[in-house]
Amino acid sequence: MRVFVTGATGFIGTAVVRELLGAGHTVLGLARSDRAAAALTAAGAAAHRGTLDDPGSLREGAAAADGVIHLAYHHDFSDQAAFANAAQLDLSAVEALGAALEGTGKPLVITSGTLMLASLAPGRTATEEDLPAPGADGPRMASENTARSLARRGVRTSVVRLAPTVHDEGDRGFVPHLIATAREKGVSAYIGDGSNHWPAVHRRDAARLFRLALESAPPGATLHGTAEQGIPFRAIAESIAHGLDLPTTTLAPDQATTHFGFLGALVPLDNPTSSTLTRKQLGWEPVHPGLLEDLGAGDYFGEGARRG
Ligand SMILES: NC(=O)c1ccc[n+]([C@@H]2O[C@H](COP(=O)([O-])OP(=O)(O)OC[C@H]3O[C@@H](n4cnc5c(N)ncnc54)[C@H](OP(=O)(O)O)[C@@H]3O)[C@@H](O)[C@H]2O)c1
Repeated sequence: MRVFVTGATGFIGTAVVRELLGAGHTVLGLARSDRAAAALTAAGAAAHRGTLDDPGSLREGAAAADGVIHLAYHHDFSDQAAFANAAQLDLSAVEALGAALEGTGKPLVITSGTLMLASLAPGRTATEEDLPAPGADGPRMASENTARSLARRGVRTSVVRLAPTVHDEGDRGFVPHLIATAREKGVSAYIGDGSNHWPAVHRRDAARLFRLALESAPPGATLHGTAEQGIPFRAIAESIAHGLDLPTTTLAPDQATTHFGFLGALVPLDNPTSSTLTRKQLGWEPVHPGLLEDLGAGDYFGEGARRG
């Protein structure tokens, strides 16, 4: 297939491009700068100039392809307005990509996150069958619902919900932010007894899931990119403390935002998330190291940290 990939130059996108090329697909990647276009060419992909803010560029890219994987996201968590703006930009991108594919039966794989499931399935392990209510406007929920409605309009859409920690060398997501916070505060913290769970997935396992979804997910599928269903947050905090040679501490819930900044609302979440149905449906089996193993290998901690 010729696959249009948005976010092809990002942390996960670069692994998805490698995975697609390795499986014999060709890739047309969205590039919003000369730097991005050059990176795509170097990776063996073609570049399509455009941005998330320009729906016409997204429609053109999708129309030139046999299928689409949408990973680009404007990660601005500086305040509530920026957060809402990023979610709206994602929704309009899904609408534009879907409009270009309507009635074609071609695949459109969009990216979502498992964290929404902390509110959709409180107090239990969430599954792929936990869906946002129609009209829900939480982050990513409107994009998910739009993808599902596109499945009824002749697009083979699927939603890949990623764990909040997609980990590997080069990670620039939540775990590096937790490490930077621990380094700055001189302590690695968790909330309460730290028994709340965060799921995790290795970037290369996630990339394989995106390829399998593109190739064979049925229309309207919801898929969970969680290799580890839930790691107690305290274990993550302890691993960070070990890597930085710092102590751990417990904090009260009302101290979370002061300590963790924008992650303060997410660190206390209990988000155990099953991927049993995804594995059965697509034959996906994660094979790469888990989060604590990756943290233990030391690459996350840089100069001057305790290794191993
Ligand atoms: N990493 C994780 O742990 C994690 C966890 C859960 C969900 N996710 C989701 O997975 C997806 C990929 O994440 P990632 O970690 O790979 O993100 P990333 O490394 O920050 O990459 C973001 C990608 O989006 C592109 N992009 C951002 N704003 C754009 C715009 N206005 N127009 C066009 N392209 C734009 C970037 O292009 P440039 O190269 O030009 O900057 C880059 O290719 C996102 O939806 C993210 O929210 C990630």
